[in-house]
Amino acid sequence: MYRARIISTGSYLPEKILTNFDLEKIVETSDEWIRERTGIRERRIAAPEEAASDLALAASRDALKKAGLRPKELDLIIVATVSGDMLLPSTACILQNKLKIKGIPAFDINAACSGFIYALSVADSFIRSGTYSRILVVGTEVLSRFTDWQDRTTCVLLGDGAGAVVLEKTRKKQGILDVKIHADGSYWELLHIPAGGSRLQTSEKTLRERQHFIKMKGNETFKIAVRTLEKLVVDTLKNNKIKPEELSLLIPHQANHRIIAATANRLGISLEKVMLNLQKYGNTSAASIPIALDEAVKTNRIKEGDYILLEAFGGGLTWGSALIKW
Ligand code: ACO
Repeated sequence: MYRARIISTGSYLPEKILTNFDLEKIVETSDEWIRERTGIRERRIAAPEEAASDLALAASRDALKKAGLRPKELDLIIVATVSGDMLLPSTACILQNKLKIKGIPAFDINAACSGFIYALSVADSFIRSGTYSRILVVGTEVLSRFTDWQDRTTCVLLGDGAGAVVLEKTRKKQGILDVKIHADGSYWELLHIPAGGSRLQTSEKTLRERQHFIKMKGNETFKIAVRTLEKLVVDTLKNNKIKPEELSLLIPHQANHRIIAATANRLGISLEKVMLNLQKYGNTSAASIPIALDEAVKTNRIKEGDYILLEAFGGGLTWGSALIKW
């Protein structure tokens, strides 16, 4: 029986930093409000010439380099994003071309902030079934292009970035032990971009009404996120007969410090066992978990044999978790 193991991680964050103090000059907000309500201090913003595939390329090269692999040694590319270069084609195909390879399958997954867990789940299934052996999974977002910089309820939350992992098949009882994904489409309106798709064609009216930007009912989303994630992490550990104290690191989607703290509290683990970097990058949607994972690896917070739990919640609504033995 095969399992999927993460053999390397990589990330890329754009250079430009936008602080809470910078935002105070743009919308009616304060550094204090943003820090207290979210934990965010600053976020990165992609350069005008940078699109999702450019961030993805840099993160992918980083992961491939650390794995000692050339792009042509991959046999599948999956990109999780809601802010791809274009509606057509997929960002995964554009990334494949930038990696100067062809022939292998490449596709995108849209599950908003849960996108990376969804992509990991698909990659895991392909490896377990023996279909593919070495898969590049990337989370990349340039949310700043879909952010309404006049809407203080969303613009203070989001950031740009990309993270990547290379997964390889192994016969050891190591790697992804359990990955679960979920959705409840009845809540789709809580987090959406109304125009620019086939529902509401781009027009002068949609542009005037700022319908091409992210709309979020934050407070409702917050309450469902806390409830759902608390149950998700407890169930994931219980189903795999792992006690919370056996967990070395929780790597949550970086949306809100209060959501993360509630989840850790429900598990009874201290925040020292939680990977937190939203203060630097804000909510980078599908990119947040692979960026945090890469930082955890770089700062030696993970060693072989450790149990790690990844969890995410996002638009759709979607959510998911992945239990890993490193
Ligand atoms: N600065 C100052 N005041 C603000 C700001 C701001 N940036 N934004 C909102 N406010 C005000 C509101 O207008 C409101 O004022 P009122 O009481 O006079 O009406 C007040 O602050 C409280 O607003 P709430 O929305 O109730 O604040 P809340 O405590 O819920 O925090 C937040 C808002 C941070 C958005 C929180 O709800 C949250 O994190 N939600 C979940 C986000 C999430 O996890 N999304 C899913 C993933 S994202 C994805 O998939 C792309």
